[in-house]
Parts: sequence; C-alpha cells; structure tokens
Amino acid sequence: MNAEPARIEADALARIAAATTVDALRTVGQEVLGKRSELVGLRKQLGGLDEATRKAVGQALHATTQAIQAALVDRESGLEETERGARYETERLDLTEVVDPLPVGHLHIVTQTWQDLEDIFVGMGYGVAEGPEIETDWYNFEALNIPDSHPARSMWDTLWVDVGEPGSMLLRTHTSNVQIHVMQAQTPPIYMVAPGRTYRRDTTDATHLPVFHQIEGLVVDRGITMADLAGTIQAFTQAYFGQDFESRLRPSYFPFTEPSAEFDIRPPGGDWLELGGCGMVHPNVFRHVGIDPEEWTGFAFGFGIDRLAKVRYAVDDLREFVTSDVRFLEQF
Ligand code: PHE
Repeated sequence: MNAEPARIEADALARIAAATTVDALRTVGQEVLGKRSELVGLRKQLGGLDEATRKAVGQALHATTQAIQAALVDRESGLEETERGARYETERLDLTEVVDPLPVGHLHIVTQTWQDLEDIFVGMGYGVAEGPEIETDWYNFEALNIPDSHPARSMWDTLWVDVGEPGSMLLRTHTSNVQIHVMQAQTPPIYMVAPGRTYRRDTTDATHLPVFHQIEGLVVDRGITMADLAGTIQAFTQAYFGQDFESRLRPSYFPFTEPSAEFDIRPPGGDWLELGGCGMVHPNVFRHVGIDPEEWTGFAFGFGIDRLAKVRYAVDDLREFVTSDVRFLEQF
C-alpha cells in the first residue's frame, strides 16, 4: 500500500508524456485524476488503514496528485504551443512574396536598328542630323531637282497636308529633304546621316507601310567620286551585317543624283536584296543651296530602316512592326 502512490505517479507521468495532442491529454487527465481513477480508489481505502499508515499514504497521495496535476498543466501548455505552431504553419500567408513582377520592356526593334545605324556612321566619322517631317514642296522636291510637273514626282506617292497654299505642304516622302537643310546650314566638308520618319500613300502590305523610316547619308567634300560612294556602302554593309556580306550598285535614276544607283546586299550564298538608292549629288542640287559644283562634289544615299530590320531579324511581314503584339516584340 505504501508503494502504491509512487507507482500510480510513475504510471500517470508516463501516460502524460506519451499524449501527443491536447485532446488525448485531457482524456489521460480524466483517467488518472477522475472519479474512476486508481488515485481516487486508493484514497477511498484510506479510511480502513491504521492511523500511521493512513497519514503516510495520505501525504504520499497528496504529493502524487499535485505532481500529476503539475505534469498535466505543463504538458498541456507544451502541446498547445506545438499545435499552435503547426496551425500557424498551415495557415501561413507569405505577404512578402511578389506574385507578378512588373515586366520590363525594351526598345522597339526599329529603334534598335536606327540606333545601331547611327553608331556605325558615327564610328565612320559622320554627324547625325534631323529635319522636319512636315515639309514644304521646295525642300522635299524642288530643291532636290524635282520641279513641279516633273514626271519623277510620281515616283513618290505624296501625302499633302491641308496647310497654306494647296499643294505646298506635305508629309515628307523621304529623308532627302534633310540634305537641303544641312547644306544650307553648314559649309562643306559635310559628312552626315539623317534617320527619321517618312510617309507615302502606300497600301499597307508585307513590304510596305505608309509610315516608315529612312536613313539618309550625305557627303560633300573636294574630290569625292563614285568610288567613295561604293566603298562607303561596302564598309557599311560589312559593319552592319558582317564581314562576309557583299554589296553592289546597279544603275538607276533619281532626279537629285547623277549618276544614280540602287544598292543591293547579298549574304554569303544568298540572293541579292535591294536596300536603297544612292548617287552623286546633282549639280542642280548644289546650286539650289549655293554650293559651287565646280569646287565640291558629293554623294548621297538613302534606305529604309524598317526594311533593313526586316532583313536583319528575318521578319516576314513589316506590319508586325506596328501591331504592338508583345509576343512578337519580346523576341528581340
Ligand atoms: N530618297 C530616295 C528614296 O526615297 C533614296 C535616295 C536617297 C536616292 C539619296 C539617292 C540619294 O527612294
């Protein structure tokens, strides 16, 4: 009988330690301290014991009850903490997570091409010029040796603007107007390129856009010949496309250059692709801007930036450039 409280206590403490949930612990608590517990059963037997034993066992039972109660409280708070921790873990919301980071864009493929071209020509010693997109008939045509009623005017599908005298203002059909502005503002020698937006009344298709981009080149110096033009075109072709690309000039006609040519490029093993127009600056153009054609000669060239980007990046259809479909734009 004297040993019973210690056994009950050891048994209860083991069961308390083994309980893994608060619910299970409560059940254990009922069983070790409740009405039908061994402890209560033992206490009921105390009355039949002699006084000395009753006192000793009674004190032992009291200590055991306190020890079990303390163990229950202790274990309960431990289990509660563990369960709370587990619940927090499953209910956890990570508020630091960035779900959809803002996508970062990049320059349009045509802008990239424009900037690459500027870099190449600046590297060759050229300056960069700009001119107006809304232009007078004189700068776009007349000063470029294309008089009114000249049949060559039909080479450009002009978009006229309803400003001033009818037929006096237009959206420039090419960047060649910048040649005139630059030659008026500077004295030779002149080495410049002028990239910019140009406009023609073209029906949109895979190779035409009514709003497109050109880059103009103009060189005016002493003793400039057609060989300088051909060499410049070749140097540019290799710098932009690669050392193994070839270029060639084909006789053509432009009112503001004489002789005139179109220039083509060819990738290794590929076909010739027409890129732009060029030629020696016509003496009449020099006369319009007060440059003496006996003293100065020069060449000019112009080609489409969009077309160049189309070739360089193997884009099938120029319209892709203006439909703003990110799936297309993201590729470059
Ligand atoms: N301006 C011409 C065009 O738009 C191209 C060109 C530029 C031709 C300079 C000769 C010299 O087609």
